[in-house]
Amino acid sequence: MILFHSTVLQRETITPDTFSIRLSCPKEFLQRFNPGQFVMVDVAVSSHLDPLLKRPFSVCRLRDDSFELLVKAVGRGTGILQQVAAGTVLSVHGPLGNGFPLATITGKPKIMLVAGGIGIAPIFSLLNGLLASGHPPLELIVGARTAAELLCTDELRKRADQEKGLQLSIATDDGSVGHHGLVTELVSWQLKSGGEKPVICACGPLPMLIALGKLAAEASCSCYLSLESRMACGFGVCLGCVTRKKTGDDRHPWVKICQDGPVFDAETLRLL
Ligand SMILES: Cc1cc2nc3c(=O)[nH]c(=O)nc-3n(C[C@H](O)[C@H](O)[C@H](O)COP(=O)(O)OP(=O)(O)OC[C@H]3O[C@@H](n4cnc5c(N)ncnc54)[C@H](O)[C@@H]3O)c2cc1C
Ligand code: FES
Repeated sequence: MILFHSTVLQRETITPDTFSIRLSCPKEFLQRFNPGQFVMVDVAVSSHLDPLLKRPFSVCRLRDDSFELLVKAVGRGTGILQQVAAGTVLSVHGPLGNGFPLATITGKPKIMLVAGGIGIAPIFSLLNGLLASGHPPLELIVGARTAAELLCTDELRKRADQEKGLQLSIATDDGSVGHHGLVTELVSWQLKSGGEKPVICACGPLPMLIALGKLAAEASCSCYLSLESRMACGFGVCLGCVTRKKTGDDRHPWVKICQDGPVFDAETLRLL
């Protein structure tokens, strides 16, 4: 983990409440980064230590000298970031957490990437990592409530057209684009259609992740879930981000999402 000063190089509005932000970083950050890892960003830009706590964000994409976040404005910290001007200097901690187990995933005969809403951010960086390093057939399933809330779809469609072995499916809750319904319905159909069992990698709302964990268990597929939680420190000190794991020994039933995760083998978690 590195603590560094990062300059806002670009901020772009994507939807009224979603934006991308490109931040400068040292080479060492890029060398250490693993898809699925995250950063803690200090959003106290105009008032010292207010807000006090840094905010966690998945890295969506790496550039030569910088990285990009995809952010949904949901409250004070993300609201500040949404207004931040190019040239502003922010304090950043990262890369943090474990990221997706690339070596394990690429050893499987098929990979299914599943993203719900803003959960596309770490899945996008995983997709780029897999496309850059050689991969088995890839199925990418993205979903949102409506067409207007789908993120990165133009770029994903372009990738799917260009890349052999990458198939894209889209679902919206209201049916405005793609399958009318939940991403988990598409996953369920795919798993029941036979063929190679995929390894599933997913990020999105907790109910989606819980449903995916169950589908994967029923189909005997490996499944890696990227979890979110409120985080005060981001590196294992405050114990504010714990979740329960499955264990025969209930003396130590907790894992830290920031340090042991955010990516977990679904089989090891007790999410309900
Ligand atoms: C590992 C990790 C990666 C993340 N990656 C992204 C990302 O790529 N893009 C993105 O937009 N967001 C991401 N998040 C969520 C993001 O950190 C929160 O939305 C942000 O911290 C909210 O800050 P705020 O001050 O704007 O909201 P606050 O004013 O603190 O809260 C506003 C509302 O958001 C809810 N909220 C706050 N933090 C979280 C959280 N961590 N998870 C779920 N709900 C929360 C609160 O309960 C409240 O309802 C990630 C979180 C984690 C833990
Ligand atoms: S956020 Fe502090 S221990 Fe995880």
